Amino acid sequence: MMAVVFSSRNLFRVWGVCAVAALAGWSVAAGETRNRQSLKPVSAFDHLKDSSARSIALFEEAGRVIQHPRCTNCHPPGNRPAQGDDHRPHQPLVTRGEDGMGAIGMRCNTCHGQANFDPAGVRFGVPGHPQWHIAPVEMAWLGKTLGEICQQIKDPQRNGGKSMQELIHHMAEDTLVGWGWAPGKGREPAPGTQKEFGALIQAWADAGAACPNS
Ligand code: HEC
Ligand code: HEC
Repeated sequence: MMAVVFSSRNLFRVWGVCAVAALAGWSVAAGETRNRQSLKPVSAFDHLKDSSARSIALFEEAGRVIQHPRCTNCHPPGNRPAQGDDHRPHQPLVTRGEDGMGAIGMRCNTCHGQANFDPAGVRFGVPGHPQWHIAPVEMAWLGKTLGEICQQIKDPQRNGGKSMQELIHHMAEDTLVGWGWAPGKGREPAPGTQKEFGALIQAWADAGAACPNS
């Protein structure tokens, strides 16, 4: 009996928090999703004959995605994801938990479903994906320079043990990464398309995977 009362109250509280979070997002909405910005195609870098300069320029273009809030909000240095284009701390307070899926009682999938939840009438939806969870702290990007992120994603000690081929595949094909281009109501998508981004990363690797100095 006690257990039933407790769990239904707990459920009510969690849903209350979700509703408050959604309303908070709604009230600060700056406008509808803005137009997609484009990415330069790989061919725009053909004129750079020095392969290191070409590689760096390709990575800087891809960096417009990597440093976009749709990516960095989920790659934070601290214990808490970020929200919005200003990277404000996630409301309500949620933490990594042991597996990056949130602490017990505040699991990411308590609120983030299998797909985006964009009900009629709200300006901000709730993002969703079956694997919605926070990137491990060694993969933190928020607050780092593009050069630092570049060194880090090439380093198997800090990129989840990925080879360059696996890294390219992850960027070009992973559907959680792909969420960045279909982020639901009220959020600006990452520039270009995932395919264009994957092509830039492939060309960066082909030209020697050089990193910007800063
Ligand atoms: C919902 C949270 C979330 C979002 C949004 C997200 N990521 Fe991640 N990312 C993760 C998690 C979790 C991992 C680690 C799990 C894995 O390796 O599959 C990860 C790992 C990565 C890695 C592996 C290497 C490394 O050093 O970070 C890359 C590359 C990456 N993400 C790229 C992106 C890009 C590009 C975007 C935006 C277009 C993005 N991610 C958006 C959660 C996210
Ligand atoms: C209590 C409900 C709740 C829980 C639990 C929760 N979230 Fe959220 N989250 C939301 C809501 C609602 C939004 C949308 C708010 C907005 O955009 O204004 C959101 C937005 C986000 C965003 C922002 C996307 C963007 O680019 O603006 C990220 C990243 C995120 N959540 C990650 C996580 C992660 C990772 C976890 C688990 C560790 C988690 N959330 C747990 C409710 C929750």
